[in-house]
Amino acid sequence: MSGWRRKDLLTIADLSSDEIELILETAESFREVSRRPVKKVPTLRGKTVVNLFFEPSTRTRSSFEIAEKRLSADTINFSAGSSGLVKGEGLVDTALNLQAMNPDLIVIRHAHPGVPQLLAGRIAAGVINAGDGAHEHPTQALLDALTIRQHKKRIEGLKIGIVGDIEHSRVVRSNIHLLTKMGASVTVGGPRTMMPAGLGKMGVVVAHDLEAAIDGADVIMMLRVQMERQSRARFPSVREYFNLFGLTRERLKAAKRGAIILHPGPMNRGVEIASDVADGPYSVILEQVANGVAVRMAVLYLLSGVRAEEA
Ligand code: CP
Repeated sequence: MSGWRRKDLLTIADLSSDEIELILETAESFREVSRRPVKKVPTLRGKTVVNLFFEPSTRTRSSFEIAEKRLSADTINFSAGSSGLVKGEGLVDTALNLQAMNPDLIVIRHAHPGVPQLLAGRIAAGVINAGDGAHEHPTQALLDALTIRQHKKRIEGLKIGIVGDIEHSRVVRSNIHLLTKMGASVTVGGPRTMMPAGLGKMGVVVAHDLEAAIDGADVIMMLRVQMERQSRARFPSVREYFNLFGLTRERLKAAKRGAIILHPGPMNRGVEIASDVADGPYSVILEQVANGVAVRMAVLYLLSGVRAEEA
């Protein structure tokens, strides 16, 4: 597979639409592996991948690990509590020590924006950003795009409404970059207290009520209210938030008929989304999770420098 030149995957903002297309096409080809009785290919045999997770994760961490195993890579897992960081070792020293063992790729999630970039500039291994603070979560946006394309056959020309805690969301930043690069029209919606300044410069429309954000939408993406990143309350109560911004069956009528519903997880039922909508016929939330494995296989493969003829 030609056309991939990067050592690292740090942001969607860095990528061209051709690079995004290449990752999505590669992910499509890897989906089939997960449907086989023996879900393993030798593509990354002999390669070592280190997973460094300094923030909790269910979906991203487990899907990277599954992707690595399905590609036959050797994997090592570190979390904040099990590394030298608890003994006062700095992050860069931790990374340099890991680098001394010559891994091929490092997957990192960290609460601080820019940490993956910092590491990528210091170590020879490829670095994959698995979420850095409220900055970016590139593989999430890629798996969202794969899911949207499977249902809508394209991204260009789609109307996409993203609703929730916009300020604290790395998922929304990566998605705005990806979806606008691929030609979609994006509206973001949420309480004014959760809406950062300058979003208009990112090429999106800003709405302050849910119906306006999803009006005529082909795709709705609901985001979690990230209580843990809020230093002060941004709304009076969960009930009030759900009444104004929770996606219900009634409110869904504002979207286009057949609109699909995405959520990156973790999902708070009864806060940003009603349970019957989350489990309903238009929800593709679990398909997103399944696509996460294929997208991460594609990213690991492309960054590992393995050529198509070897794969
Ligand atoms: N979507 C997502 O990043 O979920 P996790 O925090 O469980 O990895």
